[in-house]
Amino acid sequence: MLAKRLAACASLVTQGGMVCDVGTDHAYLAAFLLQKNICTRVIATDIHKGPLEAARRTLTEAGVLERAELLLCDGLQAVQPEGITDVVIAGMGGETIIHILENCPWKKQVKLILQPMTRAPLLRQWLAENNFGGWQEIVVKEGERFYQIFLAVYTGTTAVLSDLEREVGFLPVGNPEIQSYAKRKLERFRIVAQQLSAGENPEFQKWKKLADALEEKLEEITNADSE
Ligand SMILES: C[S@@+](CC[C@H](N)C(=O)[O-])C[C@H]1O[C@@H](n2cnc3c(N)ncnc32)[C@H](O)[C@@H]1O
Repeated sequence: MLAKRLAACASLVTQGGMVCDVGTDHAYLAAFLLQKNICTRVIATDIHKGPLEAARRTLTEAGVLERAELLLCDGLQAVQPEGITDVVIAGMGGETIIHILENCPWKKQVKLILQPMTRAPLLRQWLAENNFGGWQEIVVKEGERFYQIFLAVYTGTTAVLSDLEREVGFLPVGNPEIQSYAKRKLERFRIVAQQLSAGENPEFQKWKKLADALEEKLEEITNADSE
């Protein structure tokens, strides 16, 4: 069965489109998208040979290899953009995702589906500064860990993010995990603020403001969800 975070990525893919799955590893997402006929073709890339061999095995066993192309490259560097509707970059650090996007001249033409393992605020800031917006975010929990999945498209306008939006995302109402995710973040912000206040650190105000803003937002979400 597909991991919840990959299933969330799949739910954002353009029906009938052509997907490039960057850092495909075992190609579980690619195989799922093709088996379910969510997309017509997949280009799957990886920077290492071993994962690409694993990807080939998965796609062969799933009976969908003829609709996939496997490329050994850094990010999207060997990928021809013709026909590609969506790029998925999942399971990598925020800085690696930014590196991959910075080296892709055709990123403005496609829908970006991104699932950072680390540095999500940095990635949100990069997207905003590089004129990507129209955001959707999904939060899923696997075990004790929360994962955020972003969907962004090129809008041509720099988005201005509040400190809270940059840190925690857009906290959409109706997402079943959002309240527990926001509570977990709030706890963390309060702990950081407390630790900083003990040392009279000037960063204290930043974290206290973030915690206060998140507490207010959490109340909004809780009220909206219970309506
Ligand atoms: C943790 S796995 C994630 C696999 C899958 N995308 C997922 O989310 O389950 C990360 C994969 O990305 C590949 N990778 C790391 N940096 C990359 C890059 N710059 N370009 C392409 N692939 C990369 C690694 O070799 C590895 O197979």
